[in-house]
Parts: sequence; structure tokens; C-alpha cells
Amino acid sequence: MKIHELETPALIVDLDRMEGNLQRMADYCHEHGLNLRPHTKTHKIPQLAQKQMDLGARGITVAKVGEAEVMSEEGLDDLLLAYPLFGDAKALRLGAVLERARITVSLDSEESLSWVARAADGKSIDVLVEIDVGMRRCGLKPGPAAVQLARLIDSTAGLRFEGLMFYPGHIYPDWEDSSRKLDQLNSDLQRQVEFFEKQKVPVHRVSGGSTPSAFYSHHIPALTEIRPGTYIFNDRHSLEWKTCSEDHCAASVVTTVVSRAVTGQAIIDGGSKTFSSDPLRVGKKGGFGLVKGFPEVQFVKMNEEHGYLKVPDEAKLEVGQTVQVIPNHICATVNMHDVIFGCRGEEVVESWIVKARGKIR
Ligand SMILES: Cc1ncc(COP(=O)(O)O)c(C=O)c1O
Repeated sequence: MKIHELETPALIVDLDRMEGNLQRMADYCHEHGLNLRPHTKTHKIPQLAQKQMDLGARGITVAKVGEAEVMSEEGLDDLLLAYPLFGDAKALRLGAVLERARITVSLDSEESLSWVARAADGKSIDVLVEIDVGMRRCGLKPGPAAVQLARLIDSTAGLRFEGLMFYPGHIYPDWEDSSRKLDQLNSDLQRQVEFFEKQKVPVHRVSGGSTPSAFYSHHIPALTEIRPGTYIFNDRHSLEWKTCSEDHCAASVVTTVVSRAVTGQAIIDGGSKTFSSDPLRVGKKGGFGLVKGFPEVQFVKMNEEHGYLKVPDEAKLEVGQTVQVIPNHICATVNMHDVIFGCRGEEVVESWIVKARGKIR
């Protein structure tokens, strides 16, 4: 089957581009002696996680227990739950995952620690203390509190303090004051590691990394592991943040133009329930995706099932024509699709069920 024969809207992946993205990251990590632990919240597909493992990844990252369940059921057996655990239900479910996988959990509070202890129930879980190096989301301020929490972890049955975790989601290299933020991150991290050394609490692992910052990881000497996720597909944000070129954007949504009744406008058969509503958070261009091959066309508005394209007179877009759109935020788009189709050139050659789709618990 050819791409234009797919029933739309359909999420497709250019396999050559995806494989290039995977190989580039694997090579970079190999070259710099970094462990790669890809965040699988981007693709939510066990077969793709396995591909990442086959290329040398040390293990995988998940955000939710539901994702850990899906991935471990399919044989992925070294998981980092990079999200604070809370509640009895999740603790019991994580305990069940522990029967078939090695688990590391990150956290920043004693409360979450008590739930991880409940999940371990005497078995063994490694724990990373999350620190905040400028993102201001989760994570303790670098300083003595992280060491105190590490000591508490080590004194809890089944749990072992393994190291530190941070998410550098505020750093976009080649952008505004990124070098100042990178310097700040490095000095905060270094100070924290030295603090641990002075207190004689060994730090075995320092886990960081996002897609925009991934190829700058060798400028952060304390890092031992990175967790990029988006890099497998990239998206319009990656493009606008200049972390990739359009040739590295592997995923797009194939849509059909279903109406041209309004002058200067084309309606495509995908809106917020196909793409998600994520706005473009960088620059002034706005819009909800990049219409491939039509630089003059803007994706300006969405209803649930309607996408509004602003079409200048010279653009040739006809009713029934298919157009491919690179979404603003691929992770949120993937979560809206049951299936992803893998393509070589114009040919659709495989498909994967998005098995961890909707696993928000
Ligand atoms: C904790 C954590 N680690 C890693 C990532 C991966 O970052 P990216 O999507 O930029 O690849 C994310 C993304 O949200 C994250 O929240």
C-alpha cells in the first residue's frame, strides 16, 4: 500500500529517518561513554523500545506505572520510572512489575519514598533522588536535603540509593541564554555531587538528558546516563528549537483535504483529537503543525475533527488531496493514535499498535 492510499487521518513514520535518528543518538552515547536510557513516553510502542535496546540502550525510561506494565509485559526488563510514585494502587501495581523487571524510581520526597518501599515490599528497587537544576518542576534544590533523602533511602528495606536524576527541559542549546543555563546546571550539579562525596554517600549514577540538550551532554561531565525521548521522531518543536533539521522529522500525520468551500481556506480531517492542542511554544510563527511541501500554507486553527489551513491563492490544494503535517508535539500526538504506520519512501511496510497509549496512571 502507498501512503496516499491510507485511510486518514493516519500517523506515519519514515523508517529511514527514524533509524537515522536512533543510530545517531546511539553513536553519540557510545562515543562519549554515556548510557542511553530512552524515554519511551514518546512512542509508547514496545517494539520500538526493543529497537532502542538492540542499538545499545542500557534500559528504558517510562513516566507512568501503566507504561511500565506494558513495556515489561513485552520483555523490557530494565526500567526507570522517572516520575514520583504515589498511592497504594500504584505501589501494588509497581510491585507486580518488579516480578519481571529491574526497576529504578526517581523521587524527591519522603512521602513518595514510603510508597516505593511499599512497592518493593522487601524486594529490591534502586532509587534516584531528583534534583532541580533550573527547570523548576520536580526535584530538590541542590544541597543537604538530597543527601538526607539518600540516607533515608539506604536505611529503608529493599531500597538502595543509586544516584541523582534531573530533567534539563529548560535548556535549548543555540537558543537565547542557554550557555548561562548550562553553566548554572553544571555548577549546581557539581556542587551536589561534591556534597555527596564529602558526606561519603556514593553517587553511582547521574541521569539527565532531553532531546534538545542530548548532543550537549558531553559538556556536563557529571552525567553518566541520558534519557532523550522525542529524538526518535522529532517534531515541529525540535525543528523550531533548531535541535534537528526537517530531514530528521520522521513522523507526520497524513490528512485529507475535506473542504475548500471557504475562500483562502482548506479544511483537513484532523483537529485537536488527531494532533493534540499543543501550541508552538517557540518563536512567533504559531500554528499547530508544519504542512510538508507547502511552506506558504499555515495550520492556523483546530476544532476537534477539523484542521483549518490558511491557503494563499497560488497554493494548489484540492478537495480529496492528502497532505502530511509534522505535529508541534509528537509525544502528545502519538497518544491520540491506536496505530503508527512505518513507511519506506512512499510504501507503507509495517504498523505497530501504540500499546501504552492512554496509560496515564
Ligand atoms: C523526566 C523526563 N526525562 C526525559 C524526557 C525526555 O525529553 P525529550 O522529550 O526532550 O526527549 C522527559 C520529557 O518530558 C522527561 O519528563
